[in-house]
Amino acid sequence: MIDFTLTSEQELIQKTAREFAQEHLAPGVIERDDKAEFPTGQIKMMGELGFMGMMVPEEWGGAGFDTITFVIAMEEIAAVELATSTIMSVNNSLVCQLFTDYGTHDQKEKYLKPLANGDMLGAYSLSEPQSGSDASNMRTFAKKDGDHYVINGTKNWVTNGITSDIVVLFCLTEKAIGYKGITAFVIEKGTPGLSTGKKEDKLGIRASDTCELYFENCRIPAENRIGEEGQGFKIAMKALGGGRIGIAAQALGLARAALEAAVSYAKERKQFGKAIGEFGAIQNKLADMATEIDAARMLIWRAAKLKDEGKNYTRESSMAKLFASSTAMKAATECVQIHGGYGYMQEYGVERLMRDAKITQIYEGTSEIQQLVIGKDLLK
Ligand code: CAA
Repeated sequence: MIDFTLTSEQELIQKTAREFAQEHLAPGVIERDDKAEFPTGQIKMMGELGFMGMMVPEEWGGAGFDTITFVIAMEEIAAVELATSTIMSVNNSLVCQLFTDYGTHDQKEKYLKPLANGDMLGAYSLSEPQSGSDASNMRTFAKKDGDHYVINGTKNWVTNGITSDIVVLFCLTEKAIGYKGITAFVIEKGTPGLSTGKKEDKLGIRASDTCELYFENCRIPAENRIGEEGQGFKIAMKALGGGRIGIAAQALGLARAALEAAVSYAKERKQFGKAIGEFGAIQNKLADMATEIDAARMLIWRAAKLKDEGKNYTRESSMAKLFASSTAMKAATECVQIHGGYGYMQEYGVERLMRDAKITQIYEGTSEIQQLVIGKDLLK
């Protein structure tokens, strides 16, 4: 049965997220972007509201919601501040989900519980300077040493890399056997031998932090391994499959914000003696934006539903991300276009949408990688 009606619980979450975003994210959003200032207080509040571990089972301190409820909340947070929704997305759909699926009882007790209730923040570290899209081509190496591993190497583009308390790291435990040599670990910040690089100066999502991580003879106990040796790449890919639904929902929230700003401006801005919304040229843009936004939402909800039903959702998650991120980029660009010269000015808040939208076509797999995943799946 196809049913687009939200449950009363989902409506409540949507309302709570919308009100939180209006009250606590909207004020200061331009300033945080300008100063690249992490929303520390807001993330703490989101933890208290249950937004940082939404899909974690209640027994592990989470809210126990399904993926549909998560994407509904994500859309609302992202509609106001994409950077905050990035922090939320990584913690929920990469880090918490990975511990839920693969963590040992002790790892869940030690890490998942505090990650889910907002006492800890997590980061997910896969990429390296020479391996972005070609994720398995990594060099960072963990050498087994008795009941420890000693890690050496450099990771980059780590979202939450500076602020997080723990990092889920993917690195080699065996060289020259490709992705089968990759293993996942959890590393606590403050472990000797782990240092963070400078906060990257980014085009968008500037309030979130991104950095390099350096491992120099970083010694960790073997119990910090997540899953078995050699299982890391599949763990990373499975987490990204879910993560891409979250990124699609982020993109959707941003696209919706762009449409709302454009509609409101089109009603109020007068040129040639009438509101610009009365011109077909503007109406056509708004109509395309609205249609693509609704289509993106349907793709996202379908992928989320498949995930909740325990079915394969790899292709659908990539489709949702591919389409929603392109929708966000187009909607943000048209929103700035409709605002004309004012749109180009920082104080109108729409140029940020254009800068922020771009990352949704890049991280957690570029649009070209999503096409590759969809194409491979069609041909298998
Ligand atoms: N789930 C489970 N297993 C999967 C999988 C998935 N979604 N995708 C692939 N695999 C498995 C394959 O089945 C295969 O296993 P078998 O040999 O047993 O069949 C194995 O993994 C290797 O798969 P491929 O041969 O397809 O691997 P590949 O090297 O060709 O790469 C890729 C595949 C899809 C291109 C992958 O490298 C990829 O997704 N690249 C993009 C990386 C990415 O998204 N990076 C984002 C960084 S994280 C980030 O941005 C987070 C942040 O901070 C916000």
